[in-house]
Amino acid sequence: MANNLLKGKKGLIFGALDENSIAWKVAEKAKQEGADFVLSNAPIALRKGDIFKLAEKTGSEVIPADITQIDELEMLFQETMNLMKGGLDFILHSVGMSPNVRKGYPYMELDYNGLSKTLDVSAISLHKVLQTAYKMDAINEWGSVVALSYIAAQRTFSSYGDMAEAKAMLESIARSFGYHYGRKRRVRINTVSQSPTLTKAGTGVKGFDSFFSFANCMSPLGNASAAHCADYCISLFSDYTRMVTMQNLYHDGGYASMGISDHLIQNCFTCQGDCFEKL
Ligand code: NAI
Repeated sequence: MANNLLKGKKGLIFGALDENSIAWKVAEKAKQEGADFVLSNAPIALRKGDIFKLAEKTGSEVIPADITQIDELEMLFQETMNLMKGGLDFILHSVGMSPNVRKGYPYMELDYNGLSKTLDVSAISLHKVLQTAYKMDAINEWGSVVALSYIAAQRTFSSYGDMAEAKAMLESIARSFGYHYGRKRRVRINTVSQSPTLTKAGTGVKGFDSFFSFANCMSPLGNASAAHCADYCISLFSDYTRMVTMQNLYHDGGYASMGISDHLIQNCFTCQGDCFEKL
């Protein structure tokens, strides 16, 4: 289904860990659509080695950077612009990590050093990427930046922990920076709020199977896969969405607009509510 939507465009893709990663699918599609890009991930993630297979497949370079470290981001942008012989047209921020979620700490027992790390890696990193790019004038006019979010920014998902705070902040940074970068260079910045997806980060959340099944039954179109998400990101990098900015865009098969579905009523709830006492 390639349409050369990104022909001639240059990009930077953060967050491809393995073939399930959303960023991995975006990289594959971006290549099919004619883009050239650099892949980046944390040095520790490179040890797994999968990203080099993706680099080979897409004819890309891999440049390691911890997305929370400004000096590493500056080097990354400089090297990327050297390789691309100029500024960038798109950036994908597909990065998230919570030490509290990883360790299974309940929301009422957060470790605050862990919370700082969660916010730094999963949200403030978007600001760091944008601020570095802004200072270095690394994004071309009409460029597009997309970061991945989740509906726990708006609603409570009880085991999503402090990632909910991170996603709320991430979406806010996209709006706030969207104004400034829009004025400076007509760069657009959006978040895509994606369905539960079977990836390393996704399945690390307690009760992920239930998140996944519930959303799948609730959404009229079912859950959006990582491949669907990649298609949507490509459209946001393309020239067809030039006037879309500062938005949180739901990419979830309709889930965000649902209250309850016939499918759930018929197939899932049989207890008449009397199980509440047993919880
Ligand atoms: P993933 O585990 O494949 O990707 C997360 C990436 O973040 C990894 O590549 C990891 O190495 C990278 N990362 C972590 N710390 C980093 C650091 N300090 N510097 C640079 N990179 C770092 O999982 P997935 O699902 O593809 O996650 C991508 C994004 O999508 C995340 O923001 C996640 O919260 C979001 N998302 C995921 C959903 C899901 O159910 N999987 C649903 C909605 C949003």
